[in-house]
Amino acid sequence: MPGQTTSHRLKPPPERLYGRQTGHALRPRQERLLAETLPRLRVDLSAPLAPLAGCVELWLEVGAGGGEHARALAATHPAAGIIACEVFRNGLCSLLAPLVAEGAEATGALPANLRVWDEDARVLLRALPDSALDRLYLMFPDPWPKVRHAKRRFVHPQLLPLLARVLKPGAEWRLASDDPTYQGWVEQVMQDQSLFAPALDTPDRPAGWPPTRYEAKALRAGRRPRYWVFTRRP
Ligand SMILES: C[S@@+](CC[C@H](N)C(=O)[O-])C[C@H]1O[C@@H](n2cnc3c(N)ncnc32)[C@H](O)[C@@H]1O
Repeated sequence: MPGQTTSHRLKPPPERLYGRQTGHALRPRQERLLAETLPRLRVDLSAPLAPLAGCVELWLEVGAGGGEHARALAATHPAAGIIACEVFRNGLCSLLAPLVAEGAEATGALPANLRVWDEDARVLLRALPDSALDRLYLMFPDPWPKVRHAKRRFVHPQLLPLLARVLKPGAEWRLASDDPTYQGWVEQVMQDQSLFAPALDTPDRPAGWPPTRYEAKALRAGRRPRYWVFTRRP
């Protein structure tokens, strides 16, 4: 990317979209995962995603949480390069832990088609070239149900042009939410725009969509998720 050599030179967006970045104090194994495994997977914006060059498609998951969804995608779609974005450190540890055995954090083999972005997803999105992505995932985003927090919702009229810029024409944006306020919000925001075409809206998780931790929590609590696919209009 012209003029950018490391992610640290990129300015963070002014508004935070997420809540806390740390939860429980990290155990030594988790510290090692962040110190030794994460740098081996971290997206390096100084090289244009070179390690994923062998992949025929590039998919991005925003808010990957504990990483079960991104890991499942990487395992079942070896020709797709998957970038999992997550800012919550405990989530990142859950994402990384199944990938390497204890003691092998610095050396254990890692999936060739999985990368991690551990800063705000918008920083990466802004740095990506036009039409870089073949697919975007946003699974159970933070709902920010209070009206005064609506500007923190990832599905937002102001963010749609950025998402549309980095997605190839015809690329899929897969989205799910269990929150009734957010479901109504998605409906309204997506009705009022022309960059994406609706392709699917269903209460049943479509075949081939890996489950996520938040989805399981929602189902246990009796909430009814909705799953959408929008395609980038040509
Ligand atoms: C409700 S959780 C859902 C996690 C996972 N997708 C699932 O379904 O289990 C939303 C996650 O998005 C992350 N997140 C929110 N805004 C983000 C942003 N701008 N960049 C990266 N991650 C973000 C949060 O840290 C949180 O872990």
